[in-house]
Amino acid sequence: MTAQILSASPIVEQMKRDLKSRCETLRNRGTVPSMCVVLVGDSPASLSYIRNKKKVCEEVGATFNLLQLPANISEHDFLAHIEKLNHDPKIHGVIIQLPVSEHLKRLNLSNLILPSKDIDGFHGLNTQHIYTGTTNLKLLIPCTPKGIIHLLKFYGVDLEGKHVVVVGRSLIVGKPLSMLLSNFNATVTLAHSHTKNLEDITKIADILISAIGKAHFIQPKHLNPNKKTIVVDVGMNTVNGKLTGDVAPEVSSVAGGLTPVPGGVGPMTVVSLIENLISATENQLKG
Ligand SMILES: NC(=O)c1ccc[n+]([C@@H]2O[C@H](COP(=O)([O-])OP(=O)(O)OC[C@H]3O[C@@H](n4cnc5c(N)ncnc54)[C@H](OP(=O)(O)O)[C@@H]3O)[C@@H](O)[C@H]2O)c1
Repeated sequence: MTAQILSASPIVEQMKRDLKSRCETLRNRGTVPSMCVVLVGDSPASLSYIRNKKKVCEEVGATFNLLQLPANISEHDFLAHIEKLNHDPKIHGVIIQLPVSEHLKRLNLSNLILPSKDIDGFHGLNTQHIYTGTTNLKLLIPCTPKGIIHLLKFYGVDLEGKHVVVVGRSLIVGKPLSMLLSNFNATVTLAHSHTKNLEDITKIADILISAIGKAHFIQPKHLNPNKKTIVVDVGMNTVNGKLTGDVAPEVSSVAGGLTPVPGGVGPMTVVSLIENLISATENQLKG
């Protein structure tokens, strides 16, 4: 048996067509959706993620801006830039590219961007939608969890009553994802580095989602070959200069379905970010 490859590309194409049409409607009403990425420093990894965001943003007809700030920018000046973007009526979505310089990490970064422009979906008022039970993917909710739900829906993976094991409990992926899955009536186990007997838990999963950040950590031994488990690989690890997921390629022989790296969760995250930009612009016009 070889797992079905759950590639992002057909979904991304479909979503881009829809977003292009929503963007055109906005343009016809005189508003060009416009986003700004705030980058502190010049990390090559960040610049590469930013290029992917710019590409999809421009493909749907929206405007992309990059505000690149020096790594040693003072806290005061950094906050002044964010404040300016928050009040710029021509900018509808703002994100702070992570990671920022060490000295800025003590700021409450998630809550700096106005909730209405927070297209990463990290602001407390936006994450609250998830914690209070929403299944509305048009809300500004975090992009990786949203992209994973879009992907599972597209491939007809039913969540109702299924046991989903999420490995990794970060604020940007594991935690909001586990809540969102629960909103879709999945039964969720959220595992992490202190979880005991991880293999026993992952083996009973109908759907296994790995967001750990360790190349090829998930091995065939983590799956029950009789369950046709759907495996979602969030990991983006660099091994010998090559983008590598958390899931070992051999898992393909024991899983029912598997998202590829590259070409799986990464592109779903980017297109979900642009979906948030278009939704944010529409909402701002409604006032
Ligand atoms: N594809 C995308 O669009 C996308 C988006 C975001 C992130 N990512 C990638 O996803 C990965 C995770 O990133 P992140 O920011 O979500 O996570 P993170 O903040 O790096 O945290 C990693 C999580 O994995 C858990 N973990 C680490 N080792 C473990 C082990 N041996 N067994 C079980 N759990 C373990 C940690 O547990 P503790 O909490 O106990 O420390 C933590 O919760 C990275 O490769 C990142 O690049 C990809």
